[in-house]
Amino acid sequence: MTAPAKSEPKALRPRRSCLAVPGSSTKMLGKAQGLPADQVFLDLEDSVAPLAKEGARANIVGALKEGDWAGKTRVVRVNDLTTRWTYRDVVTVVEGAGADLDAVMLPKVQSAEQVVWLDLLLRQIEETMGLEVGRIGIEAQIENAAGLIAVDEIAAASPRVETLIFGPADFMASINMRTLVVGEQPPGYDVGDAYHYILMRILMAARANDLQAIDGPYLQIKDLDGFRRVAGRSAALGFDGKWVLHPSQVEAANEVYSPAQDDYDHAELILDAYDHYTSEAGGTRGAVMLGEEMIDEASRKMALVVAAKGRAAGLSRTSKFDAPTG
Ligand code: GLV
Ligand code: MG
Repeated sequence: MTAPAKSEPKALRPRRSCLAVPGSSTKMLGKAQGLPADQVFLDLEDSVAPLAKEGARANIVGALKEGDWAGKTRVVRVNDLTTRWTYRDVVTVVEGAGADLDAVMLPKVQSAEQVVWLDLLLRQIEETMGLEVGRIGIEAQIENAAGLIAVDEIAAASPRVETLIFGPADFMASINMRTLVVGEQPPGYDVGDAYHYILMRILMAARANDLQAIDGPYLQIKDLDGFRRVAGRSAALGFDGKWVLHPSQVEAANEVYSPAQDDYDHAELILDAYDHYTSEAGGTRGAVMLGEEMIDEASRKMALVVAAKGRAAGLSRTSKFDAPTG
């Protein structure tokens, strides 16, 4: 039997902007520390050439241990399980810097078993190294047809799983989508959003398992308007953040995935008003008018989501609810 759905969203780490940093570049490992990204992921996978992978492991261990990542979620992306590198990526990084690491990102996940493999390996390393067992999370990248088909099982495979991430570039290749421009619509498809099904499928699996849903990269890094447009779509659906590949995309992501000030104020107002009207002092009413709109328990749930995202983004409210007197 599954546990009843929770009505309060659990507090999750902010991940509006998830900055990709190639582990082979000591320069970028240094620079990333000064950028206002919510999360950094130090990469051992596709941004690192095969001959540079070993050196990148050492760079990443050094950067995690000696760098100043204050306030950021620290993640390392290892190579996927069809390669020969994965186990040594995990062992080297977690043995070397497990105490300074928040999560391991597993790319191209195709089944729940792959997540279970990582969970077990992490536990063995944590026990061996005297680290807190279970603290290091898992981020699962959904990047091919097999992964999407198994996304519900992947999401539920381990309590360590914190996020599901859409990997558009690999995904587009995996399904033979006829385009080379990551994130934009494939030419010739003019009847909707070619990514809608994939994004919604990932979002449903994430929400059903209390996880975050993260959108992948937008590769045209000079086109900030394009980044905002594409990010705005997944943010509107409910995604929590997006990958950023360049410093210029960081602020844009932080803004797009935070609620607008007006919406945040409105959400806090609904919460206060609902609290008041359902209390004895407010008349124990379940459905009331707040200005021009009717609010009830479902409004409270929607408001909780927006308020939680606003609080996590550090917004402060600019208006308050005044309970009617008399
Ligand atoms: C990211 O890893 C992607 O494939 O888009
Ligand atoms: Mg990929």
